[in-house]
Amino acid sequence: MWSGTPLFPESASTMASRVDALYFFLLAVSAFFSILIAGLIVFYAVKYRRRSPDAVGVNVSGGLALELTWTIVPLIITMVIFVWGASVFFAMSRPPAETLNVYVVGKQWMWKFQHLDGQREINELHVPVGRAVKLIMTSEDVIHDVFVPAFRVKADVLPGRYTNIWFQPTKPGRYHLFCAEYCGTRHSGMIGEVVVMDPTGYQAWLSGGTAQGSLASAGEKLFQDLACNTCHRPDAQGRGPILQGLFGKTQTLEGGGTIVVDEAYVRESILNPGAKITAGFQPIMPAFQGLVTEEQLLELIEYVKSLQAR
Ligand code: CUA
Repeated sequence: MWSGTPLFPESASTMASRVDALYFFLLAVSAFFSILIAGLIVFYAVKYRRRSPDAVGVNVSGGLALELTWTIVPLIITMVIFVWGASVFFAMSRPPAETLNVYVVGKQWMWKFQHLDGQREINELHVPVGRAVKLIMTSEDVIHDVFVPAFRVKADVLPGRYTNIWFQPTKPGRYHLFCAEYCGTRHSGMIGEVVVMDPTGYQAWLSGGTAQGSLASAGEKLFQDLACNTCHRPDAQGRGPILQGLFGKTQTLEGGGTIVVDEAYVRESILNPGAKITAGFQPIMPAFQGLVTEEQLLELIEYVKSLQAR
């Protein structure tokens, strides 16, 4: 209903209408009480105005019913907002089980996208309509922030960490992508487009891309080039932990404690292997800090993930 209003971005994801509904509810509650309070101020100012110069105000005390009303009514309203807001927040922060994953690396001042099939894009992201897309994001330098108003999604992109957002586009089109965190001189130019395509168009786009092989296969090659495979062997003879089937598992650490093997842990174990040693192993792995780029890290992570299936 607001699509013609220039104040409102297009609604092009499954989440957009839910966010808008909550937003309009907040707006309506605020407007209602603003008008009510302003109106009452004027009304009472006139009704109880001083009628003679020597009039003295009457002291009022008590009024239990009134106090209960102005406590309980706002409590109910804020609880409605809280529960409603929390449900939208949970839906936004929990991607469905099956998602199309795309890696995002932010850098002054561009967005780099890597598809699992190997396609790379800069400042443009192609996705199919109707599928849940998960962005796994990190930064090469400072804090950036991915913001796609038409999808009502926005999240910080942080150096040294992986953050996720997901969205499910509902209609084909081109949608603005902004950096929403001031990141230096050309922050305002750090923009791009999400191109939502119908499934056949998307397939055509995929097959028309550069045939460099999948992200995982690039990672496998790198794994060999860096000689990781001499220690991380699929059998028990290696000097490092076996990586097959490791991703997503809970690992016991040397010196006690456990950790779930996720993107962040794999990244840390490559850059700074001594930080969390797997129980039963020696801290002998060299650190790869400064030797692999953020993109190469994503390839290695995707390779470790792919070892699941074997
Ligand atoms: Cu990147 Cu602002």
